[in-house]
Amino acid sequence: TTPQLLAGKRVVITAGPTVEAIDPVRYLSNHSSGKMGFALARACVAAGAEVVLIAGGKVGLPTPTGVTRIDVLSAEEMLLTAQQCVAGTHTALQYMPEEEHEHHSEHSHDHSHEPHDDCGCGETHEHEGGHTHMHDPIPDDELRVADIFIATAAVADYRTRDAAPQKIKKTQESMTLDLVKNPDILATISLAHPELFVVGFAAETQDVERYARGKLVSKDLDLIACNDVSRADIGFASDDNAMQVFFSERYEHDSVTLEKASKDKIAEQLTRIIGETLWQ
Ligand code: C5P
Repeated sequence: TTPQLLAGKRVVITAGPTVEAIDPVRYLSNHSSGKMGFALARACVAAGAEVVLIAGGKVGLPTPTGVTRIDVLSAEEMLLTAQQCVAGTHTALQYMPEEEHEHHSEHSHDHSHEPHDDCGCGETHEHEGGHTHMHDPIPDDELRVADIFIATAAVADYRTRDAAPQKIKKTQESMTLDLVKNPDILATISLAHPELFVVGFAAETQDVERYARGKLVSKDLDLIACNDVSRADIGFASDDNAMQVFFSERYEHDSVTLEKASKDKIAEQLTRIIGETLWQ
């Protein structure tokens, strides 16, 4: 059985690519499959955590059992969603898991229907099926604030400055897209929440250790897991991965190498490292 190193911990994970609209039918994106983030979500649940998985773009993977999944498209949407999930204010977190209903029955929330994560304006709505209900704001002492944030998403570095409102016609012989830099989701969340345990990923082709240590400091991370993307047999759409994990100077470990294995196995090892480091 898996050691329950993350029992009672709340984990927010970003996964997959982001999708940046060019016009209503076209977008900029990348080949990230989301497999590493989904494998980590599964491993964290197995270690006893309550997991929210923010899946970008068009990840077609099934949602791991016991995980709250929120699908987003763009980096800006992913950042906003991650901020709300880490703070515990996202509407998807307003509904207690089944087993907590009894326990919280003294409160006035109505949990008798499925979550509607598409509204959340705090007002009474008419929902499909005809019944009406209220999204109560969550009392501060009940907010499900995250303990751990893991950023596996391959966020697009740039987005279009303005997505065209109508389909762009092929009338010109050449065209230029005006791109602006996307926010760094990991750094933004990490620097805003010094108490949060934060894990980043990095894909480097050279000077892996130097870049990894730079990011540990600049993004104020606890751990960074690096894959060497110059290896053709691992990473991206592959089912296998191999990693080197570097620790913040706050911890006694310096680095650990995880040999090539399935993403599920790598995720289990990484989850164990996160749990052990958290308790140091
Ligand atoms: O700086 P770099 O893109 O190499 O950092 C990779 C790490 O930062 C990954 O954990 C990735 O999920 C995260 N990241 C992010 N937002 C960005 C860029 C990267 O969360 N805009």
